[in-house]
Amino acid sequence: MHRPDEWWRGAAIYQVYVRSFADANGDGVGDLAGVRSRLPYLVELGIDAIWFSPWYASPMADGGYDVADYRAIHPAFGRLQEAEQLIAEALAHGIRTIVDIVPNHVSDQHPWFRQALDAGPGSPERERFWFRPGRGPAGELPPNNWKSQFGGAAWTRIPDGQWYLHRFAAGQPDLNWQHPEVRREHEDVLRFWFDRGAAGVRVDSAAEVMKDPALPDLMEGRQPHPYFDRDEIHDVYRDWRKVAESYARPRALIGEVWLPDPARFARYLRPDELHTAFNFGFLTCPWDAGRLREAIATTLAAHAPVGAPATWVLANHDVTRTVTRYGRAETGFDFAAKARGIPTDLELGRRRARAAALLSLALPGSVYLYQGEELGLPEVEDLPAAVIEDPMFHRTGGADPGRDGCRVPLPWTGAAPPFGFSANSQGAVGGTAGTVVAEPWLPQPNSWSELTVEQQAADPSSMLTLYRRALRLRHSEPGLGDGTMAWLPSGPEVLAFTRAPGFACVANLGKEPVALPAHRQVLLSSVELTDHLLPPDAAVWLRSA
Ligand code: GLC
Repeated sequence: MHRPDEWWRGAAIYQVYVRSFADANGDGVGDLAGVRSRLPYLVELGIDAIWFSPWYASPMADGGYDVADYRAIHPAFGRLQEAEQLIAEALAHGIRTIVDIVPNHVSDQHPWFRQALDAGPGSPERERFWFRPGRGPAGELPPNNWKSQFGGAAWTRIPDGQWYLHRFAAGQPDLNWQHPEVRREHEDVLRFWFDRGAAGVRVDSAAEVMKDPALPDLMEGRQPHPYFDRDEIHDVYRDWRKVAESYARPRALIGEVWLPDPARFARYLRPDELHTAFNFGFLTCPWDAGRLREAIATTLAAHAPVGAPATWVLANHDVTRTVTRYGRAETGFDFAAKARGIPTDLELGRRRARAAALLSLALPGSVYLYQGEELGLPEVEDLPAAVIEDPMFHRTGGADPGRDGCRVPLPWTGAAPPFGFSANSQGAVGGTAGTVVAEPWLPQPNSWSELTVEQQAADPSSMLTLYRRALRLRHSEPGLGDGTMAWLPSGPEVLAFTRAPGFACVANLGKEPVALPAHRQVLLSSVELTDHLLPPDAAVWLRSA
């Protein structure tokens, strides 16, 4: 029996990327006042919680995943007091707040790193990071062969000749998690946000924080891996779980765990570790019935032994927008294969994204919805290089298109950019009429006039209407959310399952229409149905017979 406060087991969680959500002060950058002004939108959408991508003070070397101060809000976003207000206001509407914690690294502007640079080689201040002398006769080569996830070496040399490790951008020095102060500080940061009402944390790069202190070269098949999924990591999350459980209403820990092996993945979800983790096997899966059936079955089988609920994720701020991905010949997602300008049928992609929305919202567990997915926004693929900020783009010399294409500010109202994203543009969120507003930090396509919230809210066939209806049903249908499912017999191109009591979902990924199973009522459909047939690339929710 699950406790009533285990809301995270079946929640619909909406990811807000603050910079791109809504801009209340007209500087072209989203902010907390913008989120507050748009809370009614989120209430109407029907979500249970918001996960905020990092909103802390940061030089933005990686969109805020380079944190300079965990206890301060980025000045462009607002102030701490405003975050507290936002958390309280959201909760008054029944919406919980999840904050993003980035344990693997800090910003190079974080006081610890500044102190480490000043204190010099061999100092205790450098022990909190990974400083090493270089290789080669004059130490001119990096200490080992590790690569940055964003391209290039994972090491940067500083003027005194030492190198420091950064598995992401150079502005994100990796912390040494063997160091007791690093562990203590993060537990304090957890308490800081839990004390301010955060209902949970999303743990960034959760499987990557521990390093082999010998920092050996990466070699094919070397086990244990020097920086990935190391066993010592689990002690960290056991300690975090104790912090989470020390509250009268226990807080939830949600891991960003990219691991191909479901058994290794599930170890993070043992009863004394993280509560849930993002399901990247499902996110990366192509639009293929057999592959999706397998991904769903593998997910459920991996979670069952540890008693953790599954999560269902189609998109986030790091991956290609769903309608674009599903409109291509290759419908799976793979960081290594990211490219621009691939032929894309957006109509087909949108149709599939609608079906995928119903599929993912019907599966047992919690579900994550990245802002703009409910509007069916496509990936913006023609951002000029001069406006792209993502280090993934710059560190690969533009070979990797980067992730800014899924981070373009949301279109709210009106017929032209900035589509009400910024205050006073198209009469949106507060302020004095007629004030000049800055351009959004990333330019929005003109074609988004069709995709604004305003347009879609009034259109019964829009993606937004589909999401609103589905999320409403997710609350009213007792079979949805946390629980179990049972597959219904179906052809190989169809995914069909029931959720007791009395609910069924059918998705047709084949090329021919299929007959619906016996049912009493169609609750919701991603397309118009005729003659009880479900057309290709469509899904339906049924009240079962
Ligand atoms: C996670 C975040 C991503 C960030 C990286 C480094 O994968 O989702 O946006 O760049 O960690 O913090």
